Amino acid sequence: MTNKQKKIVVVSNRVPYKIVRIKESIKYKKSVGGLVTALDPILSKKGGLWAGWNGLVGKQKYAEQTVEMEGGYSVKFLGLSRQDVKDFYHGFSNRTIWPLFHGFIFQSFFDLNYWDSYKNINQYFADKILEEVKGDEVLWIQDYHLMLVPSLLRKALPGSKILFFLHIPFPSFEIFRVLPWNKMILEGLMGADVLGFQTKGDARNFLYNCSRALGMPVDYDTGRLDRGDRPVHVKNFPISIDFKKFDSLAKAISTNNRVRLFKREHKNQKFIISVERLDYTKGIKERLLSIKRFFEKYPEYKKRVIFVQVSVPSRTKITEYRHFKREIDQLVGNINGQFADELWTPINYIYKTIPQEILISYYKASDVCLVTPLRDGMNLIAKEYVSCNPDGDGMLVLSRFAGSADEMQKNSIMVNPYDFEGVADGIKAALEMSRNEKRKNMAALRKIVQENDVFNWANQFLNYSIER
Ligand code: F6P
Repeated sequence: MTNKQKKIVVVSNRVPYKIVRIKESIKYKKSVGGLVTALDPILSKKGGLWAGWNGLVGKQKYAEQTVEMEGGYSVKFLGLSRQDVKDFYHGFSNRTIWPLFHGFIFQSFFDLNYWDSYKNINQYFADKILEEVKGDEVLWIQDYHLMLVPSLLRKALPGSKILFFLHIPFPSFEIFRVLPWNKMILEGLMGADVLGFQTKGDARNFLYNCSRALGMPVDYDTGRLDRGDRPVHVKNFPISIDFKKFDSLAKAISTNNRVRLFKREHKNQKFIISVERLDYTKGIKERLLSIKRFFEKYPEYKKRVIFVQVSVPSRTKITEYRHFKREIDQLVGNINGQFADELWTPINYIYKTIPQEILISYYKASDVCLVTPLRDGMNLIAKEYVSCNPDGDGMLVLSRFAGSADEMQKNSIMVNPYDFEGVADGIKAALEMSRNEKRKNMAALRKIVQENDVFNWANQFLNYSIER
């Protein structure tokens, strides 16, 4: 069998289906995320399996199973106990790796119980996959929850094609070496034949870490690591979105009706939108302080501009996220209290998950999109916003610390999210940019996202891997 004909086995922390229990029966509800959109057609065509956590807390028997789905591939639901969720998911994945890889060293917890659980759950995932595979499949592991899985699979299947993609940034040597288990993570990842990262910088960081921490010979030009027994290839593959889907939904009559209504209700007002999970890496606090600065510095914009901040609840069981929510609630209250009058409130704060068609209308109705993470692997909101801007009248203000800055910086207003003065000026520049210039920028950005959509991402990664 050639590599191209091989079945695909995807392994990620979460599977693309949610289990919904209705009385005695069980239903599977498909998720709408970008990764699912990209991999679903590939898995349907080639056949295979997608394995991961069922998303439930506690080991419910009914929820640990392999199910043949309609698309022509199977999903293997794995269960985690309450303690596993605490130590593996909330703990090592989201209180150690997540903050550290985003550069938040002092918010990272180095707890031996977390690490033990991470090792155990990675082993559990590997064992469960080994129950299902013959070894002639392409095994594609996703993200920071499962960085030991490549080498665990390699031990059992030395000749298999094993790939890994990291969706978050990979830290510099100075940051990563703080982690007591850094070498084990590097060894774990090197079980793969191909390691994909979001940006060139992430790929370079990984190579440099291998060279410094493990003394491995690396070739920065080709991205090749020499382990002695076999090569490991390291390369950047910036992830993307389904441009066509967002573009056509943005052009739908229902979207246009919603946008028209929205604009009619807010005549003579401009909208600036930000959307993300409520996460401290996204720069929400710094953004709010920049908005405050904007109204202080440019009071002529009072009553003329409304900031729509959509924060999607996320990881709400983790202490840092709870504290962060309280801090943001308070800050929004303070700023609104300071500037609002009886007819206008500067920040329209929404803390919930918004249906996609409504979100698309918000994107389309907004004059500016403010994407200002302190650090982000890619940031797909920037790409969604431009895909929903077929008329080209919007403008993107983008953090230089988002992975998407590599592709989008030329036609966006670039800012440092820690520089409130600079962000306030960036907002003003975006609002005041001529229609011609905005259209030129938006056309260029839309072309970039259209030509590099999520289907290209998946195909490029697989084709590159299969050739090696
Ligand atoms: O960006 C990394 C990521 O793990 C995504 O893959 C995921 O959609 C998002 O964060 C939300 O994470 P969680 O699974 O913890 O809700």
